[in-house]
Amino acid sequence: MLRVGLLTSGGDCQALNATMRGIVKTLTNCSPKPVEFYGFEDGYQGLIYSRFRVMTSADFSGILTRGGTILGTSRTPFKQLDTPEADGVEKVPAMVHTYHKLKLDCLFMLGGNGSTKTANRLRQEGLNVIALPKTIDNDTWGTDMTFGFTSAVEVATKCIDDIHTTASSHGRVFVIEIMGHKVGWIPLYAGVAGGADIILIPEIPYDLKAVERSIEQRIENGGRFAIVVVAEGAISKEDAALSKKEYKKKLAARTSPSIAYDLAADIERVTGRETRVAIPGHTQRGGEPDAQDRVFATQCGVEAARGCLEGEFGFMVAQRNGKMCRTPLEEVAGKLKCVNPSSDLVREAKMLGIGFGDE
Ligand code: F6P
Repeated sequence: MLRVGLLTSGGDCQALNATMRGIVKTLTNCSPKPVEFYGFEDGYQGLIYSRFRVMTSADFSGILTRGGTILGTSRTPFKQLDTPEADGVEKVPAMVHTYHKLKLDCLFMLGGNGSTKTANRLRQEGLNVIALPKTIDNDTWGTDMTFGFTSAVEVATKCIDDIHTTASSHGRVFVIEIMGHKVGWIPLYAGVAGGADIILIPEIPYDLKAVERSIEQRIENGGRFAIVVVAEGAISKEDAALSKKEYKKKLAARTSPSIAYDLAADIERVTGRETRVAIPGHTQRGGEPDAQDRVFATQCGVEAARGCLEGEFGFMVAQRNGKMCRTPLEEVAGKLKCVNPSSDLVREAKMLGIGFGDE
């Protein structure tokens, strides 16, 4: 008997179920031994508190197109891993205990950066862990792509498309805030796909004067409106010059709900043009996975299951230069993959005339 556990951790995305289906189908079809599946509920919380469901391959059937996660998820911050739960339970020993109690041969962990750090910690504790790169943000080091990313780009792009008509009717500037946490992958891709005039990402601190110039230039060139895509983590040059502590203090004192509102107010003030805000928010994590995500999630699931069948553990499934591969967990844990400001896509976008607020 092969006994495997699965858990989904951190913010959800559209392709978690598709990925689990890939793992389970591959193991069911290819394992020489019968397989028993343990689905932990609500991420690492299920492993800590031994909350699990004994599942069959049928439970993972028919979920390819279903967004969210059938197991539930939660955030168990890595920083607090050695702090006991409110009821005194020590997290790491509890997780190790559950794993051994169930005599698991392998634990599949579908999660982003923080969750991968925890997976690496469990590997150091001697557990057979295989991580799979989930996140809409695409910020996981060691892989070109994460599952969830292309579906989120689709949603964000649709939002930018939809805003175009109303922005045009009213001749307004629109600031559209796009998710991505500390990086700018979704805003960059959706901004290019949606024909934004300006894209502001954390990796390229912006200057309000440059944003103003891009808007005025667009209007001078005959545009009736302007679309500014701003990453939720975007930062002005002025703020980027502050110390981390000062910047945190400034953020804590912010009275508006998010950067989009501050930026819209600034743009309206300096340009005198009517400016509105649109925020697709968590819709970027909702709904069905797109076709590309379904394929990639399935490939991730197959590669993870292959590793388990070959007895190889302690890695994260990755894709590099179009090929599925395995990256040691200790190499990826704790590292952020940012947009390179000199990358081809940024350069091409600039050649199209898209402003990044830096010139
Ligand atoms: O990591 C995915 C993500 O959607 C980020 O883009 C965003 O900053 C964050 O999660 C939102 O988290 P929550 O769902 O906890 O509000």
